[in-house]
Amino acid sequence: MKKRIIFVDSDRAVLDGLAQILSPLKQDWDMEFVERPEEALARMAERPFDAIVTEVELEGMDGLALLEHVWKQYPRTIRLVLSEDVSDDTSMKAAATVHQYLNKPSDAIALRSILQRALALNGLLNNEMLEQLTSRLDSLPSLPPVYLKVMDELQSRDSSLQRVGKLISEDIGMTAKILQLVNSAFFGVRRRVESPAQAASLLGIDNIRGMMLGVHVFSEFKDGPVNFSADALWSHSISVSAFAKKIAELETDDLKVISDSLTAGMLHDAGKLVLATNLAEDYSIVISRSESGEMTVDAAEHSMFKASHSEVGAYLLGLWGFSQPVVEALAFHHKPEKFMTEAFTPLVAVHAANAIDHHLRRKWMSEKEQGLNRAYLEKLGFADRLPAWLVACRELAEREKEEKEEECEVPA
Ligand SMILES: [Fe+2]
Ligand SMILES: [Fe+2]
Repeated sequence: MKKRIIFVDSDRAVLDGLAQILSPLKQDWDMEFVERPEEALARMAERPFDAIVTEVELEGMDGLALLEHVWKQYPRTIRLVLSEDVSDDTSMKAAATVHQYLNKPSDAIALRSILQRALALNGLLNNEMLEQLTSRLDSLPSLPPVYLKVMDELQSRDSSLQRVGKLISEDIGMTAKILQLVNSAFFGVRRRVESPAQAASLLGIDNIRGMMLGVHVFSEFKDGPVNFSADALWSHSISVSAFAKKIAELETDDLKVISDSLTAGMLHDAGKLVLATNLAEDYSIVISRSESGEMTVDAAEHSMFKASHSEVGAYLLGLWGFSQPVVEALAFHHKPEKFMTEAFTPLVAVHAANAIDHHLRRKWMSEKEQGLNRAYLEKLGFADRLPAWLVACRELAEREKEEKEEECEVPA
């Protein structure tokens, strides 16, 4: 079936230009081009679209407000911004509602490949098996109220880190856990952090948002099978998050890629938590099969549910409106070869960080058992970076261990 895409821009000439450069794709895509946001919403109400691409500056309604409507009413529609000027400020304000930003003039090839990637991922996450599985789940974690308040604050015209910090402080449990994370050796802040506002100014609000979601998802965990430890998974998730951030810092200066790597690392196995909580009996069989060495966790999940924790986690983050690179990292962290890219992405960071954490905890296992796909890294040209990544992550883990031991020492 043809994919449906709607483009919104108040400049007719821009729309005509897009129609022309994308015309070779008419066989695969049904494209509509409208000038007014209200018209876009009216067309969506008639029949939903797979993707919407909009300019920020529109007449009548701001493009970001339009995408917020779309996010709330059609959470599965892919939302892209194609704008003259995508400032950091705009991207920060709309982080929850936009999958990806593109600068105008964007060449047809870039726009096409981004849309194709987004549509392919949407196809993967909206397959029948995954739908059947998610319909069996009694509860999917929802975004925490404090997170939504923070996002609202960030979207307001005069948002400030002080007010963001104050909002987080109102949730005492969340604050305690965030401060614990920020003050651990893992996240490399070299002085004592006393408040969420200070944490946000030292680490950046995007990194704190990732931490907030990790803390929230794990605090929602109720009961799972006896052979499943949420604490062990939390500890693994913190390590993978810190390692993914470190690896990204070694490879890029792009702050968005770095914070996406942290967030994706924190939540990469969230799907396990969802499955273990909702389908405890079946998940205990999955764990037994993987622990006996009969098959990998991924294969055991597929044989039981026809989908894996990677897809369930990506599906959840997709519903939450997360950016494409984070959703991709979750969806493919065990099978990165299915999602080849040319550049460094959060997927590369999380795939490597996950394998490195398994390596540091279970040295006796083979590389394959630790989940490393060396051929994938070789193809991307990152295999020779692996030793440097390992050294940096080991250093972090050792520093963290030392600090923990110091905390445990009882003064004489
Ligand atoms: Fe995983
Ligand atoms: Fe993992």
